[in-house]
Amino acid sequence: MRHLLDTQHLSRGEALEILDVAEDMADTQRREVKKLPTLRGKTVVNLFFEDSTRTRISFEAAAKRLSADVINFSAKGSSVSKGESLQDTAQTLQAMGADAVVIRHGASGAPRTLATSGWITAGVVNAGDGTHEHPTQALLDAFTIRKRLFGDDSRGRDLSGIRVTIVGDVLHSRVARSNVWLLHALGAHVTLVAPPTLVPQDVSGWPVEVDYDLDHAIAAGPDALMMLRIQLERMNAAYFPTEREYSRRYGLDARRLAALPTDSIVLHPGPMNRGLEISAEAADSPRSTVLEQVTNGVSVRMAVLYLLLAGERPHTEKEDLR
Ligand code: NCD
Repeated sequence: MRHLLDTQHLSRGEALEILDVAEDMADTQRREVKKLPTLRGKTVVNLFFEDSTRTRISFEAAAKRLSADVINFSAKGSSVSKGESLQDTAQTLQAMGADAVVIRHGASGAPRTLATSGWITAGVVNAGDGTHEHPTQALLDAFTIRKRLFGDDSRGRDLSGIRVTIVGDVLHSRVARSNVWLLHALGAHVTLVAPPTLVPQDVSGWPVEVDYDLDHAIAAGPDALMMLRIQLERMNAAYFPTEREYSRRYGLDARRLAALPTDSIVLHPGPMNRGLEISAEAADSPRSTVLEQVTNGVSVRMAVLYLLLAGERPHTEKEDLR
């Protein structure tokens, strides 16, 4: 794998390879000594032009567990705030010898620009670009769903026949977009639930069903319910009357939680707006995978960095990771 820019162009085979290597990585993370020597001598740069806590820390932990050197670069307090361009920033990183660049940027398409510009030779990982994609989030979500529903050793299995319902601010969500493509590639059936104002215009071209009624979608018995954050910072208009009204119609409260099938799970990428899209009961219930998603995120990002920087998956990968 040269870059990871999106899930839209990921095949079922490529996706399963990442998930399966992530299983191997997760196994290593249960040991007392979590650090592997695999990427010793490699440099990973975290290039964050947008705020982030968990994604940046997760990539940092993943790179360090593989013994790579990590350089954290955030736009605040850097020359970017003095108007330095993406090109100049990228060329500076290249001159410092970056082997991989993990980029989060407010502009959709910035990671692709970086990967195809010729400014750098490093592999590029998209850590969220505008409202476009957030591929490692979708991969860790799929990993979490697979592990919860099929158990610890589910290597090689896709999500055929699994029903996933994604609820909320789909319009502004790169997490929703990446999940739709990845879940589709893995054979899952995807339903989107949102008020009409928060459904994207081009949704008719997506491999999904759309439902405007959350109670109806829950009655259909999804295996996994993914709640999205209401992205108030990306809203330049009134997309719903009041937060209270949104919550009443589209929030996951105790009543809706109880109406879900017994074995179904609840995901949220974080950060959560407790009391808005998800109630405390739902967020803290045993069905909630929120913290597992965070843990799994490190394993999935280890897998991505490994596949990017250490080449193809070796046949004896188990040996290799020891
Ligand atoms: C997501 C993001 O930044 O797109 N968060 C994350 O990566 N953990 C989702 C969000 O901000 O709502």
